[in-house]
Amino acid sequence: MPTTKKLAELFRALSAEDVGSATAIAAQICKGEENKGHRSAARILRGALNSNGSSTHVADTVAASETRNGSGVLSTAIVRLSTDVHLSDVVLVPSARRELQGVILEWKHRERLRRRGILPRAKLLFHGPPGCGKSLTARALGLELGIPTYLVRFDAVIGAYLGQTAIHLRQLFHFAETTPCVLLLDELDALGKRRGSPLDVGELDRIVIALMQELEHARPTGLIVGTSNMAKHLDDALWRRFDLTLRFGAPGQKALLGFAKRVAAAKGNKLSAAVTRRASKADSFARAEQIVIAEARSQALRDV
Ligand SMILES: Nc1ncnc2c1ncn2[C@@H]1O[C@H](COP(=O)(O)OP(=O)(O)O)[C@@H](O)[C@H]1O
Ligand SMILES: [Mg+2]
Repeated sequence: MPTTKKLAELFRALSAEDVGSATAIAAQICKGEENKGHRSAARILRGALNSNGSSTHVADTVAASETRNGSGVLSTAIVRLSTDVHLSDVVLVPSARRELQGVILEWKHRERLRRRGILPRAKLLFHGPPGCGKSLTARALGLELGIPTYLVRFDAVIGAYLGQTAIHLRQLFHFAETTPCVLLLDELDALGKRRGSPLDVGELDRIVIALMQELEHARPTGLIVGTSNMAKHLDDALWRRFDLTLRFGAPGQKALLGFAKRVAAAKGNKLSAAVTRRASKADSFARAEQIVIAEARSQALRDV
């Protein structure tokens, strides 16, 4: 059973109509039960938490509560992402895994650090080619910390006027400062790479500057994770705003092979020599996964 302290936190969040925090605490309770080995209790609790079966519902509810508090953009600008993938299931190079475990440790002991005037690392930038685990890692971090992950939809953040965009950004970062969550600024280059482009003189520049200012001053309660497929297009000044930058490189054959075997085993399949060859030559984990799953699909239908 969760402790009285945890339940009191939950009740406080509910009485403040802070649905974001209530959800985060409920998720922590689920994880706590899981850690204690109470798997069926954890399953029942998780089921109840997601009982309407929609991953966007919680974001909608959070947004509705924020709207009541006068910050409407969140109803369209964030989408809750769910995952059951743990960090241990993500293929990472040892140095990246060590850094991320460090971030988790710092977050768990953030009060101890703060008492000594030290901030935990909370603003992370993942860069590298597509399909190599950047967004997946952000979601896995949410699961490890027992807090929800929200994807930011930039199209909804960018308003008709710069002033409006700046207000939206402020609301977004305020949300990250008051609600324990992983706020995922996915594919930042979509914004950053165009800074200074002759096509978007002025306006886009200023949007990126507003984003950088928010990032600079942000003290998130959870984590802010930015990702980029094209790091060289990112503004240098943007890089400096992050506490940790990690490169997710294209995987080598050995890593791809191990990954393909695991995916096949999870589907109850054995890899044929031809599929093994193709998967180990893929340019990303996402592509290798597609190859193995396509094979599993056709094997499953072979005898129909
Ligand atoms: N390092 C990895 N470990 C395990 N699975 C991975 C990894 N990278 C990619 N995948 C698989 O490919 C999918 C897409 O990866 P994603 O994290 O979205 O890539 P990106 O780097 O473009 O953000 C994941 O949901 C997962 O199924
Ligand atoms: Mg991604």
